[in-house]
Amino acid sequence: MKHLLSAQDLTQNDIIALLDMADHMAEINTRPVPKVPALRGKTVVSVFFEDSTRTRLSFETAAKRLSADTMTFSASTSSLNKGESLRDTIETLSAMRVDAFVVRHKSSGVPLQITEWTDASVINAGDGWHQHPTQALTDAFTITRSFGTPHTLEGRTIAIVGDVLHSRVARSNIAVLTKLGAKVVLVGPSTLIPIQAQQWPVEILHSLDEVVAEVDVVYMLRMQRERMETAFVPSLGEYTARFGLTPDRVSRMLAHALVMHPGPMNRGIDMVVDPAQVSGSRILQQVTNGIPVRMAVLFTLLGSGGSTALATGADL
Ligand code: CP
Repeated sequence: MKHLLSAQDLTQNDIIALLDMADHMAEINTRPVPKVPALRGKTVVSVFFEDSTRTRLSFETAAKRLSADTMTFSASTSSLNKGESLRDTIETLSAMRVDAFVVRHKSSGVPLQITEWTDASVINAGDGWHQHPTQALTDAFTITRSFGTPHTLEGRTIAIVGDVLHSRVARSNIAVLTKLGAKVVLVGPSTLIPIQAQQWPVEILHSLDEVVAEVDVVYMLRMQRERMETAFVPSLGEYTARFGLTPDRVSRMLAHALVMHPGPMNRGIDMVVDPAQVSGSRILQQVTNGIPVRMAVLFTLLGSGGSTALATGADL
């Protein structure tokens, strides 16, 4: 594996190997000095053309904990503002001999395009509505560890609720969660469920109340108003009434069920309940787990250990 562009490209074995590796990385993160020399001499550059808190910082932390050198490219203060093209920008960074680009862009397909302009590995950190593979790996890691079933989701039902249409997180999660054996139910207004979802390996519902008391995980999505050119729902109030996670809906969830959200949350719209008051909330755990999962991805793409190291955590 040289690049990680899409969760669709990962086999079940690839996913399990990455989650097993993330287990080793999680152990490293519990040490007094959470750092190993596994990627000493490698350079990882984060190239974010769209805002991020969790993904950018967790990738940079992951690279540092593996002793890689890191560079941060800031689009807003770069020579893009003087008219430099995306291609020239990537070729310029590549000339500094970086080993991996971690790329976020508002347009789908940019990480794939960048693979044609560099010999370095390219990791998709979120492109448009398309894919966010490391978020899905983080979510699968969080769910399987919460249920103590490393790393299978056989027999579990996961409801992904809200703005599926604009969600790269939903698309990546459907690929990863179903490959681990989960049943995925998409829940949202018909305007926010893509037509193509009828061909996806999912069930589609238009009522959260119909499913909230039956599923193992309620995975809330943010209404992505920055990607909307028209009104997709009659009003935010009506959307919240039908699809928001309220205290009443939480009270009807199964006792063991989890609440998840990739962040950032729209409090009062998709999340009416305060997650700090929900015992099954794993929202901050998702953030914590983003570091070992991204360490696993970086080590798998850049480490010299190969498949044996993947299986055993050797070289760590
Ligand atoms: N989940 C996620 O991608 O969050 P950020 O936009 O903060 O990176």
